[in-house]
Amino acid sequence: MTSPITTTEAGPARAIPELAENFTWGVATSAYQIEGATEADGRTPSIWDTFCRVPGAVANAENGDTACEHYRRMPEDVELIAGLGVDAYRFSLAWPRIQPGGRGPANARGLAFYDRLVDTLLARGITPWATLYHWDLPQELEDAGGWPARDTAYRFAEYAELTYRALGDRVTHWTTLNEPWCSAMLGYHEGVHAPGRRDFGDALHAVHHLLLGHGLAAERMRAAAAEDARQLSLGIVLNLGHGSPASDSPADLAAARRADGLGTRLYLDALVHGRYPADLLAELPRRGVTLPVRDGDLATIAAPLDLLGVNYYTSHRFAGTDEHGAETDEHGLPVVRMVPFGRPRTAMDWEIVPSGLTELLLRLQREYGLPMVITENGAAFDDRVAPDGTVPDADRTAYLAGHLAAVARARAAGADVRGYFAWSLFDNFEWAYGYDKRFGIVRVDYDTQRRTVKDSGAWYRDTVRLTRGE
Ligand code: NOJ
Repeated sequence: MTSPITTTEAGPARAIPELAENFTWGVATSAYQIEGATEADGRTPSIWDTFCRVPGAVANAENGDTACEHYRRMPEDVELIAGLGVDAYRFSLAWPRIQPGGRGPANARGLAFYDRLVDTLLARGITPWATLYHWDLPQELEDAGGWPARDTAYRFAEYAELTYRALGDRVTHWTTLNEPWCSAMLGYHEGVHAPGRRDFGDALHAVHHLLLGHGLAAERMRAAAAEDARQLSLGIVLNLGHGSPASDSPADLAAARRADGLGTRLYLDALVHGRYPADLLAELPRRGVTLPVRDGDLATIAAPLDLLGVNYYTSHRFAGTDEHGAETDEHGLPVVRMVPFGRPRTAMDWEIVPSGLTELLLRLQREYGLPMVITENGAAFDDRVAPDGTVPDADRTAYLAGHLAAVARARAAGADVRGYFAWSLFDNFEWAYGYDKRFGIVRVDYDTQRRTVKDSGAWYRDTVRLTRGE
């Protein structure tokens, strides 16, 4: 018997014909945001454990000590994922569980958790998609210099290889880094993410060593896969948006180009074309910075990729003048100012711009030509629990529907998009925002740890089912 189709205020679930074939449907999470049990089985602190203890760093002084208690509740959580009928589950592996302190041999007790997770997923017919690094750098490595230090890239490659050797017999879908822009810029320049440093030079060094770590890890994982004739699909996940100029004035065009250099081309030109963008390199000395590139690094970084993971939440428009009309900043460099579209916003204050996703995917197809997967897309809203216990989150459903339609349009126009992962399976620890911002298609009551599939979750489940023709 098929269950009735979920109808929400955002409309009934429907099949999306453009996404019916060769398309992976999934849900996504990350380790520190859901696992809790930060002291279990030999795990050592990560930079987020430390950062959460800095007064004022995280809203309400919250931390990931308990989170969604996924470490303990994993089997029932996998049942919940199975109930959504998705093909795949994207999760991250906690480096400080697998290799405490970031060096030395694997910790069998830490690895055992992921062994069980993978086996439980496979037993339920769900394909595991593992991310090696979703921001939880072992604190010891930060103490030794963190991502601005070259050695961290080598440490990451070692961790990647030992993890891949342990799980790669069953996990075929891997991504190395999640959103290196955030690790580098939010962590080392803006100081709003762990480790909370504020130095643009450190951040740029972090970018290079993150990308180098990715490339070195890719080499070692491919070599390990070849030894055992294993199948391996390897990618990296970037946070991307579609940047447009606020007008066609030369200043606004230049602003959009600069923003694109630092946000997109810095990563993708290196990863795909093996070079850093010349326009960006040319302006760095004016900011007193150079990239610490050594011979051979760019060839390593440009290791072949099987797919590009795209995390999409919003897009931006850029103007090249500040609020006083000036066109240069304190370094004598062109101004880059964000100009709102005037569209509705999510609880993160991010504008809702689904058309930007279509434009982004088509641009990535044109300029980089890699197969793509939407590894994250979703929205935080201030959910209300109805008296009957349901969560009528029509705004989230509308967000998902609008963005899936945007993916469908991009696919119809020729973008090679092979899957979509909703962010997030659960409400969880939203980094500096703590638990206030809820991204889940499943609600978590943090007092009881009770999980409730929201209306958006039911809608997503039905959309997957109908699109597959079930
Ligand atoms: C991207 C990050 O990968 C994820 O950890 C975060 O929760 C979402 N964006 C929402 O901000």
